[in-house]
Amino acid sequence: MSTLERLFHSPAGQAVARRAGLAAPTELRRGRTWPGGEIALAELGPSRLGADTLGLVGRPWREPVVDATDGDDPPAYESPLGALVVDATDLRSIPDLERLRAVLRPAARALEPSGRVVVLARPTEAVDGWEARAVAQALDGLNRSVGKELRHGATATLLYVDPAADPPDLRSTLGFLLQGRSAFVDGQSWRVGPTLVPRVDERAAAGGRPLKGRLVVVTGAARGIGAAIARVLARDGADIVAVDVPAAGQALSAVANEVRGTALQLDITSPQAGARIAAHVAERHGGASLFGIVHNAGITRDKLLVNTDAQRWRAVLDVNLAAEIAINEVLLDPGMAGGLAEGGRIVGIASTSGIAGNRGQANYAASKAGVVGLVRAMAPELAGRGITVNAVAPGFIETEMTAKIPFVQREVFRRSNSLGQGGDPIDVAETIGYFLDPASGGVTGQVVRVCGQNLVGA
Ligand SMILES: NC(=O)c1ccc[n+]([C@@H]2O[C@H](COP(=O)([O-])OP(=O)(O)OC[C@H]3O[C@@H](n4cnc5c(N)ncnc54)[C@H](O)[C@@H]3O)[C@@H](O)[C@H]2O)c1
Repeated sequence: MSTLERLFHSPAGQAVARRAGLAAPTELRRGRTWPGGEIALAELGPSRLGADTLGLVGRPWREPVVDATDGDDPPAYESPLGALVVDATDLRSIPDLERLRAVLRPAARALEPSGRVVVLARPTEAVDGWEARAVAQALDGLNRSVGKELRHGATATLLYVDPAADPPDLRSTLGFLLQGRSAFVDGQSWRVGPTLVPRVDERAAAGGRPLKGRLVVVTGAARGIGAAIARVLARDGADIVAVDVPAAGQALSAVANEVRGTALQLDITSPQAGARIAAHVAERHGGASLFGIVHNAGITRDKLLVNTDAQRWRAVLDVNLAAEIAINEVLLDPGMAGGLAEGGRIVGIASTSGIAGNRGQANYAASKAGVVGLVRAMAPELAGRGITVNAVAPGFIETEMTAKIPFVQREVFRRSNSLGQGGDPIDVAETIGYFLDPASGGVTGQVVRVCGQNLVGA
C-alpha cells in the first residue's frame, strides 16, 4: 500500500473522503444467496413467462405495488423489497410503458441493499411495427437509467427473451440475476434464446452443483481472475484443468491442488498449445470429454499508441486474441481426442476497454474488442453443434493487474460506476459459471459486462 493509499484509508482520510462525497461503498451481496425481502412479480400482459420461470427458480412471489397516482406520494411497500421482476414481454406501445413506470416507481423506493430489478422483454426484431420496435429499444435506455439511480448495491437488468425460448431456457439466467452471483452486473441487457441442445436434468442443477462431472479448462489460472474462476467452477462441481505459464508453475500447482484439478504448464501462444491441452485432457482425464474452455489468460503492455512498438503490439494481440483462435480451432476439430464435446462451452474474456477504448491501451483494446468479434462470429456457426460461445467484459476488478495502476487513478476507476466500487475476481468468475451452466444452453453470442455499470463502456 502506498503512503497516499494508507492516508486515504485512515480514519481522518475517510472523513475527508466522506465530505468529498466518497462514502464507503455498500458491501455487495455475493454468492448463491437470494434476496432477503420478498420478490414482486409484475405481469404487464397475459404472458406467463415470468411466473413460470420464477416457479422453476423455486422462489415465491407477491403482487407488485402499483403507482396509479399523479402525485409525489405513491403507494409504498410495507417492508424492504428483495426484487422486482417485470414480465414486459407483451409490452408494445408507448402507453404500455406507463404501466412499467407505475410498477418501477414504488419498487425503486423500496429495494433492499443489493436488491434487483429484472425486466423481461422481447427483442426488437421479434416484434412488429415501428412503435413496438421503438418501445423495445426504449426499455434499454430505461434500464440503464434505473441502474444508475438505484442505490446501495441494487442492480437493474433487461433480458431480451426470444419468443421461442421457454421458462426452462430462462431459469439459469433469472436464478443468476436474483442471486448474489450477479453482484457486479448492472444496467445492461442481453439475450436469451431457446436452448441449443436437449435440456439438462433439472434435478442435477437443483443441488447447486450444475457442473458436476464436467471438465473445464481455465487458462491463466495461477492467480487473479483465473484462480477465482477455477475456484467458483470447482465449487459448482466442475473438474478443472488449470493452465498457466511455466514461470507461474508453483502458484498454478497450488490452485490446481486446492480445486482438486490438474495443472498444465503451458504458454498459450505456443503453436502446440491446442494439441497439448487436448493431449492433457485425453491422458490425465481419460474417458472424460472436455465440456468447456475459459480463455482467461491475458496481458497488458500499456503505452500511448505513439510509443507502441511492434513488440508491445504483437505480445498483447498474440496472448489475448490469436492464441484463443488457434486453440479453439484445434479443440473444435470433431475428431480430436480431448477436444471440445458437442453441447460444450467456450468463454472469452473481453474488457470494457475493448468496448469503449482506453487511452494508452490501443493494443489491449484492439485485442479485447477482437474477443467480442470472435464471440459474435463463432456463436452462430457452432449453434448446430450445441456449443455456446460467450464473453464477459470486466470493468475495474481488484487484481494484481489493476494494482499496478497509480493510486489516484485507481480510486477514480473504482468509483466511476453505479456501484461506487471495484469488482472482485469472484464477480467475473460467477458470470462465467452462469455461461457454463448446462441450463444456459440458450445463451450464446452474448457479451456480459461485469463492471458495476462502469461509466466507460456502459
Ligand atoms: N483485472 C481487471 O480489472 C481486468 C479488467 C478487464 C479484463 N481483464 C482480463 O481478465 C483476465 C485476467 O486478468 P487478471 O487481472 O486476473 O490478470 P493477471 O495478470 O493477474 O493474471 C493473468 C494470468 O494469465 C497468465 N498468462 C499470461 N500470459 C500467458 C500465456 N502466454 N500463457 C499462459 N498463461 C498466461 C499469467 O501468468 C497470469 O497468471 C485477462 O484476460 C485480463 O485482460 C482484467
